[in-house]
Amino acid sequence: MTQQDVDKATLIEGLNEDLAHEYQAIVMYNTYAAAVSGVHRQELSNFFLTEVADELEHARFLAHKITALGGTPVTSGVEVDYTTNAREMVENVAEAEAETIERYVTRMKQAAAYGDYGLEAKLSDIIADETEHKEEAEMLLRGKWDE
Ligand SMILES: [Fe+2]
Ligand SMILES: [Fe+2]
Repeated sequence: MTQQDVDKATLIEGLNEDLAHEYQAIVMYNTYAAAVSGVHRQELSNFFLTEVADELEHARFLAHKITALGGTPVTSGVEVDYTTNAREMVENVAEAEAETIERYVTRMKQAAAYGDYGLEAKLSDIIADETEHKEEAEMLLRGKWDE
């Protein structure tokens, strides 16, 4: 990937895709926190709400970065799959976080090719956050679920 491959418009388009998925993550976690039921309700609800704060910070960064680059940030998120099944919620979360990491790895390479090393570094931090989210969800999926 060279700078010729990544112009500003391409980078902004990619960051807007990331932003739409951050808004999706915020809605997903907030909705699941409210809708989760069963014997694990309290801990899962707290887990989901903790993630909302991280995703909001990612969304804040992306929206500002997009405008700083001269772009227009998206104002809505990707649709969320609603479920009332606690295990399905955590499975959806693990899958969404894994896909998010892949998108950010691509974006980080684009940022480097474009020559924005500050963005590259910031995306690396965000990847670390998303990796923690993914691992937490995967750990929740291990072990027994009795519902
Ligand atoms: Fe995020
Ligand atoms: Fe996340």
